[in-house]
Amino acid sequence: MVPPVKPVRLGNINVPVPVVLSPMAGVTNWPFRVLCEGYGPEGLYVAEMVTARALVARNPKAFRLCRFAPGERVRSLQLYGVDPVIMERAVHMVVDYDGADHIDLNFGCPVPKVTRHGGGSALPWKLDLFTELIHRVVGVCGPAGIPVTAKIRVGIDAEHETFLEAAHIAQEEGCAAVTLHARTTAEYYGGHSDWDRISQLVQAVDIPVFGNGDIWTAEDALAMIRQTGCAGVAIGRGCQGRPWLFADIRHAFEGSDRREEPNLGQVGRVMKKHVRMLVDFYDGDERMAVHDMRKHVAWYLKGFGVGGATRRAFMDCETLAGFDGQVDQLDQDMPYPQAVADKPRGRVRYARKVRLPQGWLDSRTTTHEERQALFGADPMDASY
Ligand SMILES: Cc1cc2nc3c(=O)[nH]c(=O)nc-3n(C[C@H](O)[C@H](O)[C@H](O)COP(=O)(O)O)c2cc1C
Repeated sequence: MVPPVKPVRLGNINVPVPVVLSPMAGVTNWPFRVLCEGYGPEGLYVAEMVTARALVARNPKAFRLCRFAPGERVRSLQLYGVDPVIMERAVHMVVDYDGADHIDLNFGCPVPKVTRHGGGSALPWKLDLFTELIHRVVGVCGPAGIPVTAKIRVGIDAEHETFLEAAHIAQEEGCAAVTLHARTTAEYYGGHSDWDRISQLVQAVDIPVFGNGDIWTAEDALAMIRQTGCAGVAIGRGCQGRPWLFADIRHAFEGSDRREEPNLGQVGRVMKKHVRMLVDFYDGDERMAVHDMRKHVAWYLKGFGVGGATRRAFMDCETLAGFDGQVDQLDQDMPYPQAVADKPRGRVRYARKVRLPQGWLDSRTTTHEERQALFGADPMDASY
């Protein structure tokens, strides 16, 4: 039975089908979003995180990440930052240039390079900083009619949970929704996310909750909604090399059993389309496009009986013609590998150790000195 799936309103944006392509650094640039949205329902397809400091510094790479394709229905941008003043300036730039329809804030990144500076999933621990950051962003976005959402984790570890407080603050400060990746920083990407935390959050706040973590199939998406009562689902790793997962979800939400099972020939055609859009993304630079495509190739070919030599040949490609040549040599009729269809993909490990600024857990608020130190160290490139 299909659980009741209703449209979600984020301020003046209507999301007819509450399905989100979760932001993924190095993955959810406009070419990948266009592929996913092409298959999927009218949901939200969020850009990879852009570092506020880099945007304010007018860094060309950051500007590239802010680009949208003409056909994107809702331009969803995700920003990352630690310094509320820099965040406010970055958001002003976005608003002044009419650069987005929706802004998501990253409070979920578990990468040591980020948490070591108090960013991402470390930040909600500091209630004053977290509150001020959202307050300033909503202060700019609100009058411009741009909804703001927050993406959080359960907390830093089992002893330092933050999600309930963080979601309450987000709600009080005017966020339109919150997405919960139901793991702690310490859990990183290991094990299974704890969907009970999503249920708990749904009960605790009035704004819509998007559940996130370990949706590998359309059935998982339905199960998360049924089990937790969340307003919608956000999908990350499950669509790596499988943008058609969004078609499966569209079918499932319509009550249909239809699922996409492309053979290798069809997957090859998606790869060719993907790499061509990446050439556009990189302003015609084929080399950058085929290099960027390497990780996607590994994901696209996952489970197919393609030998090591062919896989390596893709890694050696330097031109579009070379890439196409490799795709053409694939066995076009090889059937879709059912065995990996519902299996985890991408990152799956636990954190070795959570890195935090010195003394971070001693207090829930920041001192003036701590802020000075944090903001000075806020990285320009906070990639995942
Ligand atoms: C390669 C990679 C990059 C990611 N980049 C971001 C990001 O830029 N912003 C963000 O909020 N989350 C990011 N995430 C986290 C995902 O959005 C998502 O929350 C997480 O993968 C859990 O969902 P899943 O189980 O569906 O993958 C990233 C995850 C991966 C694997």
